[in-house]
Amino acid sequence: MNTSTLDMDHDHVELLIGTVQTAADANAKAVRNTVLSPRFYTTDFAAMDRLDVEPVRTEWDVMMKEYEGDNNHDHFQRDAEFAEEVKKLMPQLSPEMRQEFLDFLISSLTSEFSGCILYNEIRKHVSNPDIKQLMTYMARDESRHAGFINQSLKDFDLGIDLGELKRQKNYTFFKPKFIFYATYLSEKIGYARYITIFRQLERHPDKRFHPIFRWFERWCNDEFRHGESFALIMRAHPHLLRGGNLLWIRFFILAVYATMYVRDHTRPLLHEAMGFESTDYDYEVFRITSDICRQVFPIEVDIDHPTFRACMTRLVELSIANAKAKERGGVMGLIGRASTAVQALFTFGRLYLLPVKKQDLPADIRMQPTW
Ligand SMILES: [Fe+2]
Ligand SMILES: [Fe+2]
Repeated sequence: MNTSTLDMDHDHVELLIGTVQTAADANAKAVRNTVLSPRFYTTDFAAMDRLDVEPVRTEWDVMMKEYEGDNNHDHFQRDAEFAEEVKKLMPQLSPEMRQEFLDFLISSLTSEFSGCILYNEIRKHVSNPDIKQLMTYMARDESRHAGFINQSLKDFDLGIDLGELKRQKNYTFFKPKFIFYATYLSEKIGYARYITIFRQLERHPDKRFHPIFRWFERWCNDEFRHGESFALIMRAHPHLLRGGNLLWIRFFILAVYATMYVRDHTRPLLHEAMGFESTDYDYEVFRITSDICRQVFPIEVDIDHPTFRACMTRLVELSIANAKAKERGGVMGLIGRASTAVQALFTFGRLYLLPVKKQDLPADIRMQPTW
């Protein structure tokens, strides 16, 4: 099944992502929590303080040296051509494409800033030197990433007030193990997303419609390393990777994959401009992420299973139906929304019950970003 069966025309896209015209719209969009938008997290800091990385000390020290070396310290600065490319290319975007690109920038910024806040809060609340040092480095990186995206929003006069965002957005509490599963996955999937875009535009430079994509290669190595940090923490606490926790791991993999899939299908023009089709792009990202996750997760979802693919498509259809019901309003709208929500839950349940592949964890934990 592919997106042609999804009938994702521009009216559907607009229903799902809304329209951003002013800086107030952009800021409101970043603050709003929906099923698909990136969230802010808080956690049990005392439990974070008790983490012990001694079982992976050798790998940990090597990783900390890499953070200390800070090979991206001069990367997040615009070069001379950046402004010229923006001036030349942005007026060429159609209004629909512009909305999809803004949606991409705002959700990417929110997600980068979410990491920045979480890592910074953990840093402030722990005294464990290993965790404090790690969080200092990761918050440093995420703050650069968020700031760099915000500069591109400012080109449109749509800069996000990060101080206000931090104050206004709701925080979701996750206990540490859920932070590890979710953050590990989002760092690695972030790497896979950025590198897939970078490689595609490296092959087709004529499709690079904004200069920010030139930054993605060195950028995604930061995300890869952040993921490595959570991999080491989880491998140092092996009970997190067996028994009943495997059910949680399965849940988080599917939740992260399904959210990305539905959200990406709200940006068909963006992918088309890069020479992708949203479904193909997402399966490439799933494939890379699943390959990487073998360093920590003893189970893997079967992304090529026909039911997996059918359920992903179904979730996109249901999110369109849900948005239409919301627009309709009234009692019928409410019934429509409740019905699509139940069907989405049922579809997610079907995904959850699919058989998973099992594997032994490698003795050598660390991986290199070679995609
Ligand atoms: Fe980042
Ligand atoms: Fe990151």
